[in-house]
Amino acid sequence: MKSEIGKLATDLKNFIKSSDEDDLVFCSGKNNLTQVKDNKPSQAEFTGKNATDCADKAVVMEQLASQINSCARCDLGATRIKAVPGEGNINAKLMFIGEGPGYEEDRQGRPFVGKAGQLLDKIIAAMGFAREEVFIANMVKCHPMIDASDPDKRGNDRAPNFDEIAVCRRYIEQQINTILPDYVVALGGVAAKSLIMEAASLSSIRGKIYDLRLSAVELKKPVKIIATFHPAALLRNPGWKKDAWTDLKVLLAAMGRAPAPRQ
Ligand code: URA
Repeated sequence: MKSEIGKLATDLKNFIKSSDEDDLVFCSGKNNLTQVKDNKPSQAEFTGKNATDCADKAVVMEQLASQINSCARCDLGATRIKAVPGEGNINAKLMFIGEGPGYEEDRQGRPFVGKAGQLLDKIIAAMGFAREEVFIANMVKCHPMIDASDPDKRGNDRAPNFDEIAVCRRYIEQQINTILPDYVVALGGVAAKSLIMEAASLSSIRGKIYDLRLSAVELKKPVKIIATFHPAALLRNPGWKKDAWTDLKVLLAAMGRAPAPRQ
């Protein structure tokens, strides 16, 4: 039974790989990268300590961002103002993953730049990191709206649905597999369920460290993942901040780091 399930999983993985190979960016050979370099800029200097078989992470990340910026694989592509590929240090040891861009992010093309983003910045600083030191991205790259016919309406954000996440996850998976951080923080239930355990509740999985497993690509090195509350949820429920901080201290301890001294 176990081996049958294992085989099914391998077949599924191979199917996903073969059906998407045309647009998966693999970070493994110079030929592929040379081709990318032809129309991509210089920022290509590779300085990453995390690199395994990747000649140039910067180029791969740029190529992924350009695929994301022109993606029309789901309906969100038709209503977005700007796609939000993610930003930060491509050699980061720590990556934060939210659910999807909101109103502000849709306009700026940058992740976590609204109110939730301001809180995330404080969280990152309290953890002893600079925002530029980590990489920040989302499960889906375009703004999910309750009423897509009125993109200028405030309070029009919604969580991405199952199909949108399924279509978009190739991007976050390739970003993780290129950056190869030591740790990922899943912010909120959408990222936690998508990346850790679909059938679990956030409350049952937060604050514990798991081995990350991807579905469309095979990780080139082990990456750990921990979930905590989404900053937007913390803004709505300030009483949860204490629990989020407990979760993040578990992560800091695993990383062998101390929180920033209190101001
Ligand atoms: N919420 C998210 O999940 N991601 C963002 O980028 C902004 C708000």
